[in-house]
Amino acid sequence: MEEGLSCEETFHSFPLLDMQGVRLRSYIVENWSSISAFCPDPTDLLICTYPKAGTTWAQEIVDLLLHNGDTDVCKRAPTNKRMPFLEIQPYPNLPSGLELLKSMKPPRVIKTHLPIQLVPKGFWENKCKVIYVARNAKDNLVSYYHFDCMNRLQPQTGSWEEYIHKFMTGNLGWGSWYDHVKGYWKYREERNILYLFFEDMKENPRREVERIMCYLDLSLADDVIDKIVQFTSFRVMKDNPMTNYTFIPPSILDQSVSSFMRKGEVGDWANHFTAAQSQMFDEDYAKQMADVDIPFRTTI
Ligand code: A3P
Repeated sequence: MEEGLSCEETFHSFPLLDMQGVRLRSYIVENWSSISAFCPDPTDLLICTYPKAGTTWAQEIVDLLLHNGDTDVCKRAPTNKRMPFLEIQPYPNLPSGLELLKSMKPPRVIKTHLPIQLVPKGFWENKCKVIYVARNAKDNLVSYYHFDCMNRLQPQTGSWEEYIHKFMTGNLGWGSWYDHVKGYWKYREERNILYLFFEDMKENPRREVERIMCYLDLSLADDVIDKIVQFTSFRVMKDNPMTNYTFIPPSILDQSVSSFMRKGEVGDWANHFTAAQSQMFDEDYAKQMADVDIPFRTTI
């Protein structure tokens, strides 16, 4: 463990700094040369998301698919130890993403929140498989707001109204949601990226699990697929100590403020936005997304 990051009391939020126009935690910017130089193995798989778009859900599905639905094997360690988070700083009892990657042999499942232009170029040169999960902006914002309220490593949220503006201007960790979802969308065919939607996963989880299975060139028995769908349901993942992030100490993720597995729904934004906020957000959204037609759904 690195000095200054070993003791719970020493934890503090990382200020956001600019990296090529993207707001990132200072740790990531300060370690950028090592992060961007990371070279994966061609067999490594990358799961990319804007924060709170359904990363953990996709990770659990992938881990189960790769282990033929063996739920015991997938309980071998918490999510963050099984599937390294490329750009993350060290945590208590966990090395940095790069250190953890060094200790694991390929094929590895790697998580990142980096926008496509900042993903280390080795992933593209080695033609790694890449899964992207996108979530509609309003629900993504609500989820990120609650997460930032309970995450001591992230900057203070400010008021809900202020937070909406931060989201709209990309002034949150990992930058602009709009640029993020558009970046991966633009290159999805050319770079063979499997582009998934949280809303589709919610609407028909079996169909989406099968899509991921096909992308990974796997063919699992029907009953195994059923088991994976059941084991990756919100309720089961919320109760699973290997997926619900209770493995991170409350001094970092204070789940008494908000659960990591909070609601897992589509449309919760309607419980948060006032009519005026929703209208203002939609008008800005139309401008920011005018150059692209990504089929996001805010209800299912
Ligand atoms: P909410 O805050 O809306 O509940 P990430 O893993 O990218 O941090 O995303 C976390 C969000 O995904 C949270 O959203 C969490 O509840 C939701 N989530 C995680 N697992 C889920 C599952 N199996 N089904 C539905 N939603 C899930």
